[in-house]
Parts: sequence; structure tokens; C-alpha cells
Amino acid sequence: MRAKVQRLSLPELAAMKARGERIVMVTTYDAPSARLAEAAGIDVLLVGDTAAMVVFGHESTLPVTLDEMLMLTRAVTRVARRALVVGDLPFGSYQVSDDEAVASAVRLVKEGGADVVKLEGIGRHLSRVRAIIEAGIPVMGHIGLTPQAATMLGGFRTQGRTAQGARQLYETARALQSAGCFAVVLEAMPAVVATAITQALTIPTIGIGAGPGCDGQVLVWHDLLGLSEPPLPRFVKAYASLSAEIGRALDGYVTDVRRGTFPGGEHTYDMAASELALFEQTLAR
Ligand code: KIV
Repeated sequence: MRAKVQRLSLPELAAMKARGERIVMVTTYDAPSARLAEAAGIDVLLVGDTAAMVVFGHESTLPVTLDEMLMLTRAVTRVARRALVVGDLPFGSYQVSDDEAVASAVRLVKEGGADVVKLEGIGRHLSRVRAIIEAGIPVMGHIGLTPQAATMLGGFRTQGRTAQGARQLYETARALQSAGCFAVVLEAMPAVVATAITQALTIPTIGIGAGPGCDGQVLVWHDLLGLSEPPLPRFVKAYASLSAEIGRALDGYVTDVRRGTFPGGEHTYDMAASELALFEQTLAR
């Protein structure tokens, strides 16, 4: 029998902000990582479009398709029992029209099993957010350095470093809250700006490169575990060096196979002596 699924609800997430309890979010793209994240007590799993880079090997987040995101989202939601699962709308799945945005969000929820969706930017296109929410799907906003718009932003640069830029981020965050977003990701902006936004909003903010004043933090799985190729953004903290660990394990495997020391007796299946004798008779015929 499957364990009961009781994922974190949006009122519970809002209550965490009200209590000043920090929210922990991490990206996950498959079942094993989702299981490990849940076992560690992570509150929110984001099946992020960073999958384009860390899973599929692209140079940016732009090429990942909705179908690819759906496959990864399903892998996570199949095993997630307690954490809220956020499906990320990839580039090209919501830019053209409100109808397209709703259709893509519906697929992430209906086919992918996501609880909610996230989309980037949308300063001038709040109608996308409203349309998805009207369709009954909660939306997490994402402002600051929004990688899908990196070319428009002049590259992967910290946002909101001028008074005008900071004010724009502040207004966009408030507009997303007014449009009905239940939370907003603040990426790569001065800590003081993120703190001001966090204090102005009643919905939780989740920071990445936005300092400690946010209501929660998010990191990309591969960055957090030391699986990403350097150079990494300043805001990344690696809590392990799994690339080195995996490298050592693979070296050991290669050595054992080449020397013939793997598999050993403990990894090998036996056969009853009587059956072996019969088998040898068939070979002798
Ligand atoms: O796709 C992603 O992983 C993200 C996080 C960096 C917030 O959007």
C-alpha cells in the first residue's frame, strides 16, 4: 500500500512566514533526490527549469521543453509525500498568451502531479499569473535575475543595484502579491532590497542570492551537493563534495573490473552441485 500523501499546504506555508519560521526549498529532478530531500525535512521541492543545465547539459535554461519538465516532475511527485512540489514553467510554455500559460500550468498539475507552478518575471504581463490562478492553480512568482530573460538583462547579473532598479523589483513583487501569487522567489539582488521586499509582503519570499532577510532559501541540488562544475555563483554554498566522492567510487570500480577483483564471491550466484553435474552432462553431449 502507498504511504499517505499529505503535502505542505499553502496556509501552512503562509503560517511559517507569520511565525518567522524559515522555509527550506531545494530543486529536485528525480525520485531519489526527492526522497532524500524529504527525509531531510525540506519543505518545498522545486522541479526547476535549471534541469536544462544540470540534468540535460544545456548552456542555459532556455532549451528545456514542457514535455521534459513533465517527465522530471512526475518522477518527483511519484515519491513526494510531505513537501510541496512546485512545477516550473519552462521558457516558451507561457510567453505567447494567457491561454497557453493556463494550458501549460494545467499539464504540470494534471500530468506532472505538481501542487503549484512557478514562472519567471512577468512584470508587464501579470495577466498570465491571474489567468493561471483563475484556472485554480496557485502561482509562485520569480523576480530579480530571471535566467530565462538573461539576454534581456544583459547576462547573469545581480539585479536591483540602483535605486531605480531596486524600486522596480519592489513594485513587481507587490504587483505579484496583488495578482494572487502565494510566494515569490527573489534571485540575485542586494540583501537590503530583498529584506525590504520581504517586509513589505504578506506572502513568503524565497531567496537565492538575496541574503538572509528572506522568509526562506532555495539552492539548486547539484550546487548544494558539490556536483556542479565551477565557476559557481557567489551565492552558492556547497555542503558536500559529491563530484569528488563519486569520482573516487568510479575509479575504484574501474580498477576492480580491470583487475578482475569485482565481482567477488559475495556478489556471485551459486548453483546446487546436483544441478551443476546435470548441466555439465548436457555440455558433454
Ligand atoms: O529553476 C530553478 O532551479 C530556479 C531556482 C534557481 C529558483 O528557478
